[in-house]
Amino acid sequence: MKKIMLLGSGELGKEFVIALKRLGQYVIAVDSYNDAPAQQVADEREVISMLDGTELDRIVAKHKPDIIVPEIEAIRTERFYDYEKQGITVVPSAKAANFTMNRKAIRDLAAKELGLKTAKYEYANTLEELIAAVKIVGTPCVVKPLMSSSGKGQSVIKPEKDGSVSLTSIQKAWQYAQSGKRGDYTEVIAEAFVKFNSEITLLTVTQKSLPTSLGGGTTLFCPPIGHRQERGDYQESWQPAEIKPEHLKEAQEMATKVTKALTGFGIWGVEFFLADDGVYFSELSPRPHDTGMVTLAGTQNFSEFELHARAVLGLPIAEITLERVGASAVILADKEGKNPSYIGLEKAMNHTQSDVRIFGKPITRPYRRMGVVLAYDKVGSDVDKVKERAIEIAKEVRVESI
Ligand SMILES: Nc1ncnc2c1ncn2[C@@H]1O[C@H](COP(=O)(O)OP(=O)(O)O)[C@@H](O)[C@H]1O
Ligand SMILES: [Mg+2]
Repeated sequence: MKKIMLLGSGELGKEFVIALKRLGQYVIAVDSYNDAPAQQVADEREVISMLDGTELDRIVAKHKPDIIVPEIEAIRTERFYDYEKQGITVVPSAKAANFTMNRKAIRDLAAKELGLKTAKYEYANTLEELIAAVKIVGTPCVVKPLMSSSGKGQSVIKPEKDGSVSLTSIQKAWQYAQSGKRGDYTEVIAEAFVKFNSEITLLTVTQKSLPTSLGGGTTLFCPPIGHRQERGDYQESWQPAEIKPEHLKEAQEMATKVTKALTGFGIWGVEFFLADDGVYFSELSPRPHDTGMVTLAGTQNFSEFELHARAVLGLPIAEITLERVGASAVILADKEGKNPSYIGLEKAMNHTQSDVRIFGKPITRPYRRMGVVLAYDKVGSDVDKVKERAIEIAKEVRVESI
């Protein structure tokens, strides 16, 4: 049995802990607030600010975990290098966690070092630099803080009708990025807007080695997941997503390159845009991806959480197979409150080939994700119809809080 410390205890962490518990492991779930979803199913819990390196050091020394698994980005990840030196396995690796928490590190690695196709981009440390950057990348363009997630601080600069770019719109984007950034990092990235037809997450699993019957390689892929984003968070995801075979091959090659460069074992959510002129690498998370919750609909022989658990523990994954087509649709709160209750579950659960998961978050906020509806059908069915079904069922559930 391994002692695993999970840093971040949200809904993804909760499913991951359940997967670990099914394999007989011991888990300490950490978050900044008490009773976070994963803490409710773990053996022990810690409530600390994970951005505080001293606090992190304290709980690592106290519990002496064999494995540290980050579930979020907002962690003092520089400490991870030290934990690796102490002999603790950091998942997938200290390098991966550090590179992916900063858009600059990962983008430069992908575009410059590995030569992956990305949107044209420039960095800016000041408003003046952003004005220059926008000139280079052109409009429309997306401005993002280098450190942020869930679309925080992100906005699009659009050209005026005559094609010019107003100073006010650049100022607004700069201000918005400053208000949405994590930590005190002021630098932003300006990215050319990719007019994509769809976007996908390619769940990629790196593991020690595959059986020789599978070629003895180390990387496995899940069937691609399609998703739709709104306000910086995903609303629906579906699997498998439609993609041309040559584009899938290209995406898989890019995912292999970038995960190999970042090193380590586990599941990764690699995000791509599919556009008329090909596949663009966007970003990646070295952990289960929220759009991958669709795998809880039994779309695969193993969910993304079960895959992560095996990879993290160094246990083999003989294959990943598509077992059903499926979709997930989020259940959101609409106001601030506590002790939420869920109205409409009776109706929602009356549908066949579907399921409802409630995360058990103690506090609600506008647009906070509180649960997810899963729908599925047999392989070969129309995935769009399954997605529509998930959306319709999700509409039947309402979150009430006091
Ligand atoms: N260059 C771009 N062109 C078009 N859309 C983009 C671009 N960058 C981001 N987006 C949209 O914004 C979403 C969130 O951006 P992303 O870089 O993934 O940030 P986050 O780290 O917050 O997930 C993407 O999934 C995509 O829908
Ligand atoms: Mg993203």
